[in-house]
Amino acid sequence: MAKTMHISVNVNGQHRDAEVEPRLLLVHFLRENLNLTGTHIGCDTSNCGACTVLLDGKAIKSCTFFAVQADGREITTVEGLAKGGKLHPIQEGFWEKHGLQCGFCTPGMMLAAVALLQKNPNPTEEEIRRGISGNLCRCTGYVKIVEAIQYAAEKMRQAQQVEAPVS
Ligand code: FES
Ligand code: FES
Repeated sequence: MAKTMHISVNVNGQHRDAEVEPRLLLVHFLRENLNLTGTHIGCDTSNCGACTVLLDGKAIKSCTFFAVQADGREITTVEGLAKGGKLHPIQEGFWEKHGLQCGFCTPGMMLAAVALLQKNPNPTEEEIRRGISGNLCRCTGYVKIVEAIQYAAEKMRQAQQVEAPVS
């Protein structure tokens, strides 16, 4: 029998314990062990970005990351973006601006965008295009994706202003 290792990870706010083979990739752990199939597999070689998830808030490609490397860390997948039945601003942006066609790239694209907006809440178009340059889309031509991210950036900035205490 193959040797397994114990891992404890927090996925979308939920604590998960598992016994996994050391060679198991994070994307397979998410899709097959946890049934979180919103994380897609496009290339398996770190090129397309369909498998992008957040690891401690940073975008990573889960097809080239072992599940055991995620031990003790926090993962966010597309299933963890909406909170309390309310879409995340990035999801709202893709909906409002028609940022998708087939949708295959969309979960990874949204997580790459969330990571970008956490670092840079007010990106220029060029910064957005650079921020999602590791994520490929075969359908949209990217214009609508950029608009969706601009929409989300605006919404998130507005929400921050509302939350900020008045001095
Ligand atoms: S499946 Fe991971 S980058 Fe393409
Ligand atoms: S919407 Fe089809 S690959 Fe991006």
